[in-house]
Amino acid sequence: MGEIRNVGVVGLGAMGAGIAQLCVEAGVDTVGREVSAELGEKARDQIGHFLTRKVEKGQLEQAARDEAVGRLTLTTELDDFADCDLVIEAIVEELEPKRELFAELDRICGPAAVLATNTSALSVTEIAAATTKPGRVVGMHFFNPAPLMPLVEIVRAELTADAPYETAYAFGERIGKTPIRCHDTPGFVVNRVLIPLLNDCIRVLDESRVTPEDLDTGMKGGAGWPMGPCALVDLVGIDVHVHASEALYEKTREPRMAPPPRLVAMRNAGLLGRKSGRGFYAYD
Ligand code: 3HC
Repeated sequence: MGEIRNVGVVGLGAMGAGIAQLCVEAGVDTVGREVSAELGEKARDQIGHFLTRKVEKGQLEQAARDEAVGRLTLTTELDDFADCDLVIEAIVEELEPKRELFAELDRICGPAAVLATNTSALSVTEIAAATTKPGRVVGMHFFNPAPLMPLVEIVRAELTADAPYETAYAFGERIGKTPIRCHDTPGFVVNRVLIPLLNDCIRVLDESRVTPEDLDTGMKGGAGWPMGPCALVDLVGIDVHVHASEALYEKTREPRMAPPPRLVAMRNAGLLGRKSGRGFYAYD
């Protein structure tokens, strides 16, 4: 265990595509898996778009951009991960589909491969328990948007062995992130703090009758946040945030973890933020 030559990324939604982008930019051959060829192509287009913007802004050579995009292979088959040294999972935030996937990866991948989950609020230990080698399962929790946010939390589950854990840490550094080490507790480090904090922000909308625009102005101008809480929840996805809040509330029973009714109503109405075109703000 140690050298990572080929990486697999399962799920090429916003997070998976961002993670795949980081890998190919760092010179690592990457296999990306989506459930349909169309979704895979959509992710490749998105990665190509962001790398083209870097070329236009003088941050990347055209040839380096083309080589990076060329390092991404798309597939719909998990069997194509057989030769990967590291597989990073970024599928739907549901425990059972993740456990089923890890059981499959455990069967398909070589014994030395490291299996990582990008889960934000589920237990890495419970996911690892679906495999025959839980020692090689680790959390690699990236932040949205993954290519821009420096942090990756390297999460040690109950049975994670030292070598795969350090391999994941070193890989985080290799792709240009700032890794931090932590154990598998609900919300790990950042979401343990950020999710109840964002929930507090949304409750303040009703309590102090501030507008979303003014709340965002307040937290940017008065607390130094790079983006206001309403804009941030729109970016993360209101469905994703509600789901993570529910998962953390279920585990901790802390009232501040519970999703505010206003967000649940928005989720139920299909106001999901940027991805649906409307959340607290409207998007093109
Ligand atoms: N992928 C790749 N590149 C991207 C991108 C993406 N998703 N989004 C934007 N970019 C590129 C664009 O090309 C853009 O340049 P362009 O507009 O000229 O094309 C470039 O990045 C820079 O974008 P911005 O000018 O918008 O960059 P800013 O300086 O405004 O910073 C930000 C943007 C980094 C998002 C900043 O606003 C920020 O730090 N916001 C806070 C984000 C945050 O807190 N995220 C954590 C969410 S919680 C989470 O993820 C946990 C999870 O478990 C729920």
